[in-house]
Amino acid sequence: MKQFDLIATATFGLENVVAWELKDLGYDARVTDGRVMFRGDLRDIARCNLWLRSADRVLIRVGEFDAPDFGALFDQTVDLPWAELLPVDAKFPVKGRSVRSKLHAVPKVQGAVKKAIVESLKKKYNRFRFDETGSFYGIEVSLLKDRATLTIDTTGPGLHKRGYRRVVGAAPLRETMAAGLLHLSYWHPDRPLIDPFCGSGTIAIEAALISHNIAPGLSRSFASEDFDWSDRNVWRDVRQEARDLKLRDRRAPIMASDHDPKAVRLAQNGATDAGVGAAIRFNCQEVSELSSNLEYGCIVTNPPYGERLGEDEEVEAVYRVMGSTFARLKTWGFFVLTSHKGFERNFGRRAERRRKLYNGRLECQYYQYGGPRPPRPGEEQQTPSKEQPQQVTTDSNSATPEAPSGVTSVSTNDVAPAVPVGQNPAPAGNPFETFVADCSATPDSISFDVSPLEPPSEE
Ligand SMILES: C[S@@+](CC[C@H](N)C(=O)[O-])C[C@H]1O[C@@H](n2cnc3c(N)ncnc32)[C@H](O)[C@@H]1O
Repeated sequence: MKQFDLIATATFGLENVVAWELKDLGYDARVTDGRVMFRGDLRDIARCNLWLRSADRVLIRVGEFDAPDFGALFDQTVDLPWAELLPVDAKFPVKGRSVRSKLHAVPKVQGAVKKAIVESLKKKYNRFRFDETGSFYGIEVSLLKDRATLTIDTTGPGLHKRGYRRVVGAAPLRETMAAGLLHLSYWHPDRPLIDPFCGSGTIAIEAALISHNIAPGLSRSFASEDFDWSDRNVWRDVRQEARDLKLRDRRAPIMASDHDPKAVRLAQNGATDAGVGAAIRFNCQEVSELSSNLEYGCIVTNPPYGERLGEDEEVEAVYRVMGSTFARLKTWGFFVLTSHKGFERNFGRRAERRRKLYNGRLECQYYQYGGPRPPRPGEEQQTPSKEQPQQVTTDSNSATPEAPSGVTSVSTNDVAPAVPVGQNPAPAGNPFETFVADCSATPDSISFDVSPLEPPSEE
């Protein structure tokens, strides 16, 4: 099969996560200038579109060259093998962008590239007109420091569009970002997970997809399936392989809660649509009510930021409650994404690590508190490390209930990032006992499914 130079695009800060995902899928990936480069054939294009969790799209790199002026851009674009990729009736709009380059008028750059591709096709097809009535091939010209990269998009709508979400909440995280946050945390499918500000449930749903090794793109289609040289059998085989790789065993519990009953209902619907409704425990509660008798879990969350005027005090109070509440989970790690500059001060503790990430256009920090390492089999249980929040100074007067004294230990042998293709873990005991709240008192009450975890449904 023909080999292509491929690029997986990623949002700022997630490039290395995408490279790691590609390596885990078996590709030799390298990061240059914010792009993750690798090589592959048609089957690899299908596999990566189906399996990459944190990448935005998969592009075919048609060519790359220095383009300090329009002459260089035009001539070198004409010389690329467009007729091998674009059929005579191809619809091929050209998008463009330019960063720190002499050719900065993007519409002119797009126009020049379009003309050059037509010129190239004219020579090969011996025609003067192209009606563009056929399949869609999205071309992009990207200029970075006078170097042009010409690509064809194989993805179509961005990879964050998993195809499972019909309705979204107020400030949903992109699915690709949620997957990236999970990969950047110490969470692993063998460790319990809680998102106490779940909103529409993106983090918990992505975690459940990882836990059950469900390919995130399994329920959607991709632009390159309609390419004239695409092979339906390849896509069919790759999808079948993904269905075969689903893990049905019960893994460490994933729990999601929010104080807004509408958000919880939305999250539950999203999880059901994603085929992981039974893999996540949903709850309607204030963050101050959070407690768990499980050990060595992770909280991965995206609390309110207070972006609007006058909301600062409110969110700072929430962060103080987080500080005192999380402090009770002595063996847990905490991973918090927020744009609010006063997070650490109010949470009551400096993060061990911070990473700049963008939630849409909003600059955020990902505050990471790793927590103690889970004991290896046969090893004594660790006491919480010095860094663990034994005591957090905060002026909140949260009414957090005491965590139950009985301790359920969850099999957690590893703190490596979540892996797409993993071994089945030992099933956890009955982890949900302590995470069931009663919402019946709320006007908009939600009924929680307290039945045992079922394997996710077939599709
Ligand atoms: C930024 S949104 C989370 C968005 C979510 N990551 C998603 O993908 O949809 C913050 C959420 O925190 C919830 N929230 C705010 N204050 C809370 C509190 N004190 N206790 C529990 N939830 C709270 C809000 O209802 C909102 O859904």
